[in-house]
Amino acid sequence: MDDLREKYLGLIAGAADEAALESLRVEAVGKKGEISLKMRELGKMSPEERQVAGPALNALKDEVNAALSAKKAALEDAALDARLAEEWLDVTLPARPRRGGTVHPVPQVMEEVSAIFADLGFSVAEGPQIETDWHSFDALNIPWHHSARAEMDTFYMARADGDDRPPNVLRPHTSPVQIRSMQEQGAPIRIIAPGRVFRADYDQTHTPMFHQIEGLAIDRDISMANLKWVLEEFAAAFFEVEKIEVRFRASHFPFTEPSAEIDFRCSWEGGKLKLGEGDDWLEAGGSGMVHPNVLQAAGVDPEVWQGFAFGLGIDRLAMLKYGIPDLRAFFESDLRWLRHYGFVGLDVPTLHGGLRG
Ligand code: PHE
Repeated sequence: MDDLREKYLGLIAGAADEAALESLRVEAVGKKGEISLKMRELGKMSPEERQVAGPALNALKDEVNAALSAKKAALEDAALDARLAEEWLDVTLPARPRRGGTVHPVPQVMEEVSAIFADLGFSVAEGPQIETDWHSFDALNIPWHHSARAEMDTFYMARADGDDRPPNVLRPHTSPVQIRSMQEQGAPIRIIAPGRVFRADYDQTHTPMFHQIEGLAIDRDISMANLKWVLEEFAAAFFEVEKIEVRFRASHFPFTEPSAEIDFRCSWEGGKLKLGEGDDWLEAGGSGMVHPNVLQAAGVDPEVWQGFAFGLGIDRLAMLKYGIPDLRAFFESDLRWLRHYGFVGLDVPTLHGGLRG
């Protein structure tokens, strides 16, 4: 028995890995293991012999089992230590921007725009990209028969057979976030909502997925004058010039009354865009005073509250500010394009630190 003990404890101590340990277990205490076979021989012994050999064999079996599990734990610890040593990473090292990726112009411009509006007291709101028909249209005062539904070239989601609820849509604009934000926060409210929108359209200036930024300010006495000032402040900060004149052009949106297209004063002299001077006008988006029906649909009392909303195209802002000629390239994931037009990571735009990455 002492020989057996010595043999197996020695072998277990020397086992190189868990597989070797397992075959040792089978060899010693498995069903046909050496120690197990010895235990079977107990039956052939005289009662006196058995009284001595039985407990001794049991003790030996326990000892070997204990040695096996202790060695198993030690091997597991060693494996973990080896992995930790191998996968070690110094997270305090500074980033190496040139070896990493770049920030795409769209999120870059979203950050820039958010920083500017945050400074004007707007907070950032979000809504789902798969949106209900009600939030996208009905609540925005766009009834079924209205041409805006068709004009927006909306993508409709499929419904299961027998489900006769109106289909959800890929939101064709960020305006449904107006509704969700007012439902959640009530009035007064001041939010912007940057995000993806979708329309079935594709050419040099249109992609089926693009980005807008919605603005909404509701209080007791907000007017078109406040809207114009906010847009002028925004445009000057965004394009980093002293002053940019904003022109309103009468327009129509079902969710605003009155409604206005937003133009920024600019010049295209020598093929180069200059903002804030010249005799040309750059179309930047739509705006107006939020329609009373929209306030009502979102649970805000139009007898007490009023305000403005606007929607700007983010991709277009990025193209204009950074001289990017083709919209489609934004979404082609061409690494050369991303390296050329991308921004350094970790360089978050702020008003005090500079908007440009
Ligand atoms: N939702 C409009 C569009 O996508 C833009 C807009 C937003 C107009 C808010 C007025 C007020 O064209």
